[in-house]
Amino acid sequence: MAARTEHEVLATELRWTIAVVASVALISLAILWAGLVHFINPPSNLETIDPTKVHLSPEFTEANLGTRVDEGGRVTTRIVTAQFAFIPPCVVVPADEPVTLRLVSPDVIHGVLVTGTNVNTMVVPGYVSQVHTVFQKTGDLLMPCHEYCGIGHSQMWSTVRVVPKAEFKPGPDGRALCEKP
Ligand code: CUA
Repeated sequence: MAARTEHEVLATELRWTIAVVASVALISLAILWAGLVHFINPPSNLETIDPTKVHLSPEFTEANLGTRVDEGGRVTTRIVTAQFAFIPPCVVVPADEPVTLRLVSPDVIHGVLVTGTNVNTMVVPGYVSQVHTVFQKTGDLLMPCHEYCGIGHSQMWSTVRVVPKAEFKPGPDGRALCEKP
C-alpha cells in the first residue's frame, strides 16, 4: 500500500471528526426532543425511605397499600415489592385518569413494568420509586418483576386491574381493592 501524504491523513481525520460530532449532536437532539416535546423521561423521583422500616412507615403500612383516592381526587397506588411477591398481589385502578404509582422495596432491587403501558421503573431499596401514568385500556394487565432478584424472581408478578371510570368505586375510606376474580 502506498504511503499517504500528511494532507490525506488530515483529511481523513477531519471527515471522522465531523461524523462523530454529527452523531453526538443527533443523539443529543433526539434525547431533548423526547424529553421536551414528548415528555418521555426516565423516572427521576428522589425520595428516600429506610428500607428496614418500610412496613412501619405511615405510608407503606399494610393497611395503606393498594389504591387510595385522596380528598383532592388524586389516585395513588402504593405497592411493596419484596422477594418474591408484590404486596398487594392485585391493584385496581381507574381508566382514563391520572394515576400515581409509588413503589418501595424492603430487600433487594426489583424492576417493575406494566405490560402495554409506559410504566417501567426500578425499585431500589432506600428510595421511593414514583411513576405517573394514565391507563387507557381496561382489563387485567400483567405486572411482572423484570430485574433478577433471586431464586424466586420468575414467580414474582402481580396484576393491575384497570376498570372503566364508572366502575371504579373506592370505599368510604378512599381505598379501592381488587375484588376476587
Ligand atoms: Cu423481584 Cu425479580
